[in-house]
Formats: sequence, structure tokens, C-alpha cells
Amino acid sequence: MADGTDQKSSNQMWGGRFASGPSAIMEEINASIGFDKKLYAQDIRGSMAHAAMLAEKGIISQEDKDKITHGLNTILSEIEAGSFEFSRKLEDIHMNIEARLATLIGPAAGRLHTARSRNDQVALDFRLWVKEELQKTEGMLTALIAAFLDRAEENADTVLPGFTHLQTAQPVTFGHHCMAYVEMFGRDRARVRHAIEHMDESPIGAAALAGTGYPIDRHMTAKALGFREPTRNSIDTVSDRDFALEFLSIASICATHLSRLAEEIVIWSTPQFGFIRLSDAFSTGSSIMPQKKNPDAAELVRAKTGRINGSLIALLTVMKGLPLAYSKDMQEDKEQVFDAAESLELAIAAMTGMIRDLEVRKDRMRAAAGSGYSTATDLADWLVREAGLPFRDAHHVTGNAVALAEKKGCDLADLSLEELQAIHPGITKGVFDVLSVEASVASRVSFGGTAPSEVKKQIAWWRGRN
Ligand code: ARG
Repeated sequence: MADGTDQKSSNQMWGGRFASGPSAIMEEINASIGFDKKLYAQDIRGSMAHAAMLAEKGIISQEDKDKITHGLNTILSEIEAGSFEFSRKLEDIHMNIEARLATLIGPAAGRLHTARSRNDQVALDFRLWVKEELQKTEGMLTALIAAFLDRAEENADTVLPGFTHLQTAQPVTFGHHCMAYVEMFGRDRARVRHAIEHMDESPIGAAALAGTGYPIDRHMTAKALGFREPTRNSIDTVSDRDFALEFLSIASICATHLSRLAEEIVIWSTPQFGFIRLSDAFSTGSSIMPQKKNPDAAELVRAKTGRINGSLIALLTVMKGLPLAYSKDMQEDKEQVFDAAESLELAIAAMTGMIRDLEVRKDRMRAAAGSGYSTATDLADWLVREAGLPFRDAHHVTGNAVALAEKKGCDLADLSLEELQAIHPGITKGVFDVLSVEASVASRVSFGGTAPSEVKKQIAWWRGRN
């Protein structure tokens, strides 16, 4: 039948009070095995730690614990070999594994779920998964930062225009620009590290929501599973998904940084800018226009941000207004996190590859840095320093010089001394020392500034921390 009422048998895990099984639609909306099978390793690890603790505390026998451990090891190999048969009727990864355990070892399998509920079990599995993903992300960010540090070092004195409003502002060094991304990804990595510390508490033993009367030892399972300590409130434990939300928030901020970098790569690689050349490995051609080399990888990184931000909003919305403690709504947490994690990993890896491979076109950057009156501020500063003008007046005088250069279609440095003196008599030939872009960047030695000497200090600081 279309609504699936053909299924008669009740669920073998919880069907004691049920006369018939769920309709096909119920089964479809309820089942999570299609995606939570990803948690198999964490589920097995959690069960082994739980069984060991139950035996240690005399809640189950050593013999049953040994059977359980052996059976779980067999299941682990079956899943890894691809021979395990996942069943949607068994809803999720927890019941799939437990049912198989019963087939393998018989009645002892039924003792594993003592003093435990799927509510704390799923909280544990998912937390372990997210923690491992955060550790992986930390390593990937370190690789991305390392790629940027190398590029920054090679380009500590490569001059290019710095922009505000995407209009030429002041000359900067490419090394300095690279180091801006090191700061951004460094903050992302710090957030990752903080989140790992934050979520480093073991949920197992919270049971359904109220804890349990069995004499369990939650400190023992926490230690065995590599957590700092057990969580302190069983109600919060089974209803908390902050660790997933934190992962998604961190991923969203990081993806936002990646999207800005992606956008710059797209702009810089246009023939009009021509600041960089992407390697063939990270570009594609056009099926119709033979001259094209497209920055598809950067565009896709830019787009992945949409998915990742979407996942954050989706899970925030799922959790919003949920009463304590566990509700099935929370099953919707996993796909968002899995999808965001996969997208983020790909985006970081693609960016690391692009940054490592890209060709920096120093000549193009230098030429662009010299145009657009990028040293106008240097002229104004010179007037303040050497001719004693108040900055506001110097700004005005410089504006007149820019207007003249614009009218003549030349750069500031191309105006003659006579022309400059006609604008302000205090100008001397020393002014030409600051009108070059090299002099401009070399002068910006304030802490965190763009001067090559300063950029090298920033690189050394980060090298000591990466
Ligand atoms: N598949 C469920 C989830 O992902 C596991 C927990 C089920 N708990 C329950 N009380 N039905 O959330």
C-alpha cells in the first residue's frame, strides 16, 4: 500500500508495547541511518568504554563484557570492509549496531544498553565526531597559514596598491596583504582550539535525561574516551547541541574569510588586474572561448560559504524554542554539520593549494601601485613634516596636485618641481623621495604597518606560533 501499512512487525529494539510496525512514511521520516552511519566508529568506541565501565563496577559480568567487546570489534571490521548490512528498519546507527551484536553474541548484547539511553549515546557519538573534525580543521588551518607565511616571506617587499572601497588607496606590500589573511585564519584556529576545550566533556551516563540508579562511573568513561571530565547536568547533556552550533559558527566565520580571499583571487586573476596567475591545477578552461582560464576553484570556495552559513541557520532554527530535554528534532543536527564539515574541508584544501601554487606578477602589481595617485597621502604627510602645514591644509594642497596630474594624465611623481611649487611654494625637490611607492611603503613602520621591515617582524612572530 502507498502509505506503507503493509509492515506488520514491530521494532525489535523498542517494540514491546507496539502491536504493529510503523508505516513506510513513518519509517522514512524517522530513520537516520542514511546519514548517521558516519558515526559508527564513535558509536563502537563509546559502547566499548561503557561496557568496560559496567564490568568494572560489577553491573555486568567480565564474561559478558568480553563478548560485547569481541562482537563490537567484529562489527567494526565488517563496517570497514563494507560487508555490514545497514537496515532502515533499525532506524539509526545505534540500533543497527546493537541488533548485529545480538546476532553475533546472543543475549549478552542485551546487557550493553544498561544505564544508557540513545539520548546520551547520540550526544556522545556526535560530540566525539565534532571534536575530531575540529582537530582536523585545526591542522588544515595550520597548513593554510604556513602557505601564506611562505608567500608573505617571498613578497615582503613586493609593492601593490592597497584598496579601500576597491579604489586605490595607498601602496602596500603583498607580504602585508598575505599576513592579513594569516591573522584571519589564525583567529579561526584560535576559535577552533577554544571550542575543543569548551566541548571536552563526556555526555555518556546522562542516560535518557535524569541520570541512572546504577552505580556507574562517569569519570571513568570520560577518561577512557579522552574527555577532560563528564558533563555536570544530565538534562542539559541530552538536550545540548552547542558543540555543533559552535562548530557551525566557527565554520561560517572561516568560510566568510575564505570567500573574501576567493573574491580577491577572482579579481586579481582577471586580465584587467593581472596581479596573479593561477596554476593550471586550480583553473579550468571554457568550452567555447579558447582564450579563457577561469578561477572556478575560487568561485566554488566563495559559493561554499552559502552552504555553510545555511547550515548554521538551519541548526539554530531547529534548536530554537525546543523544550528540554531531548526531542527528535535534534536528529536534524547531523546532516547540517556533516555537509558543512565536508564543504569547509574542501574549501580550505582548495585555498591552500591555490595559495601555494599561484604566480605573483610583481611587475603588474608594481605598475598598478604607481598609478591612481596612491602616494597622495605621502605628499600630504611630507607637507606637514617638511613645510610645517596643518594636515587639513596639506590635504587641500595635495588635492590640487592630484587634480593637476589628472588633468595632465600623469602620475604625481611626473609633475615638475615648478608645477608643484606653483601649487605650494614650500615644496622642494626632496618631495620626490616620498612620491615613489617604494619610499611610501618603507616609511610605514608603525607597529603592524606595511613596511617590509615590519612585515618581516610579523612573519617571525607567526612562525614562532604556527
Ligand atoms: N537517531 C537519533 C538522533 O539522531 C538517536 C536518538 C534517539 N533517541 C530517541 N529517544 N528516540 O537523535
